Amino acid sequence: MGILDKHAILEKSPTLLLVSSLLVVTIGGIVEIAPLFYLENTIEEVEGVRPYSPLELAGRDIYVREGCYVCHSQMIRPMRDEVERYGHYSLAAESMYDHPFQWGSKRTGPDLARVGGRYSDAWHVDHLIDPQSVVPESVMPKYGFLMRTQIDGEHIADVMRTHRIVGVPYTDAQIEVAYADFQVQADPDGDYDGLLERYPGAVVSNFDGQDALTEMDALVAYLQVLGTMVDFSTFTPDASR
Ligand code: HEC
Repeated sequence: MGILDKHAILEKSPTLLLVSSLLVVTIGGIVEIAPLFYLENTIEEVEGVRPYSPLELAGRDIYVREGCYVCHSQMIRPMRDEVERYGHYSLAAESMYDHPFQWGSKRTGPDLARVGGRYSDAWHVDHLIDPQSVVPESVMPKYGFLMRTQIDGEHIADVMRTHRIVGVPYTDAQIEVAYADFQVQADPDGDYDGLLERYPGAVVSNFDGQDALTEMDALVAYLQVLGTMVDFSTFTPDASR
């Protein structure tokens, strides 16, 4: 009973109770917040995860601009129904170069964390122009205007420099050839060996099937890389090694 009696002292003094509660909340807060200052240590590095190629990065900006995240999350939770539907649960490392990240729980449409490679480029283009043409019951809006909006990558090096400020390890060499890499990813006849060396696994394709480079090319390039960087046939999480 000794310790419970002492608790009565706390309960009878509002000031002491307030101060003690604040102390407890502070400790809890520090335990939760302090690790965030050591993010390098808390995110387990995973082989294959790389910064986005210039065209993918531009596509990602379009994804954010159009508010695709309002209906689509990119975070597969480690629960059986999700893993069976979408694939391996999302790893923190897979979003480490995402600014801002695209996690969430609002799923008017399916999670897109592993949509890369699931459909052809042509399917994505048809679907984005008119979702109801491929999925009649879809409530997704039409994005056909992306086909008509040309982009030239004029500012892509600046965008990469900005990402570098927040910790994405783009090298000087990558930024120097950003403009060329941007163009060549949508040109299967071009000389894209350097691009693939800098961004292993990047999909090179004339995504929208038109001569001009459009926002549709960039967005589909981005969708096609989602969830494809880590090879899950060989991946073992640290904890189970
Ligand atoms: C109003 C909500 C809404 C918005 C906004 C929206 N979508 Fe969708 N999306 C859906 C729904 C619902 C589906 C499922 C039916 C379908 O396939 O169209 C879907 C399906 C998809 C799929 C197919 C996923 C799969 O695994 O089958 C892709 C890819 C996709 N959306 C991309 C996008 C992109 C890119 C944007 C932004 C340009 C976007 N969506 C904006 C609701 C939305």
